[in-house]
Amino acid sequence: MIIAIDGPAASGKGTLAKRLAQHYRLPHLDTGLLYRGVGRAVLDAGYALADEAAAREAASRLAVDALDEERLRGPEMGEAASVVAAFPAVRALLLDVQRRFAAQPGGAVLDGRDIGTVIAPGADAKIFVTASPEERARRRHLELNRRGEPIAYDEVLADIRRRDERDAGRGTAPLKAADDAALLDTTSLDIEAAFRAALALVEQARKKTA
Ligand code: C5P
Repeated sequence: MIIAIDGPAASGKGTLAKRLAQHYRLPHLDTGLLYRGVGRAVLDAGYALADEAAAREAASRLAVDALDEERLRGPEMGEAASVVAAFPAVRALLLDVQRRFAAQPGGAVLDGRDIGTVIAPGADAKIFVTASPEERARRRHLELNRRGEPIAYDEVLADIRRRDERDAGRGTAPLKAADDAALLDTTSLDIEAAFRAALALVEQARKKTA
């Protein structure tokens, strides 16, 4: 079974994907990490994020199995990822590894922005996770404060809005729900309630394809 989870930054899609993968004992790929890894590599090599050739080079050399999640998690890397993710050549270079992951025997859970639309359009279950920008900013702000990163709520909200706009506005594989995706708005749900709702949606989709 392939489960595709998409949605904007801090919607809760990563946590839900992880929980669903545990529940169904499926491997999980957080595809945002790939773009974060490319952004990091461009900066580490001393290039500007807007340098398309440098981003292409970084994507072609990305060591997918050696991504340092801790180092890539910060908000500035999310911003960097969304800049390099807008380059069609970068997306094309990362396509194969994601499709192979999705097609492994037994299935997989992938989360990102274009899983249900581009990476795995034939997925058995597709969920598009949303939440209001204010609620997403509140969650992200809390998480960053807990990690000891002092940042103002307004700054987090502005970052989320900027990223939504860039991700939804790009020409290639924009952030968008697949026509056959189930929508899950987590604005007023805690993690447990969101997980139960996601599980019910996957079970529903499974019955349909069975
Ligand atoms: O999900 P995460 O916040 O880690 O993603 C970082 C950025 O990577 C997103 O803002 C988006 O621009 C890009 N991304 C993408 N396609 C994916 C996953 C992430 O364009 N499938």
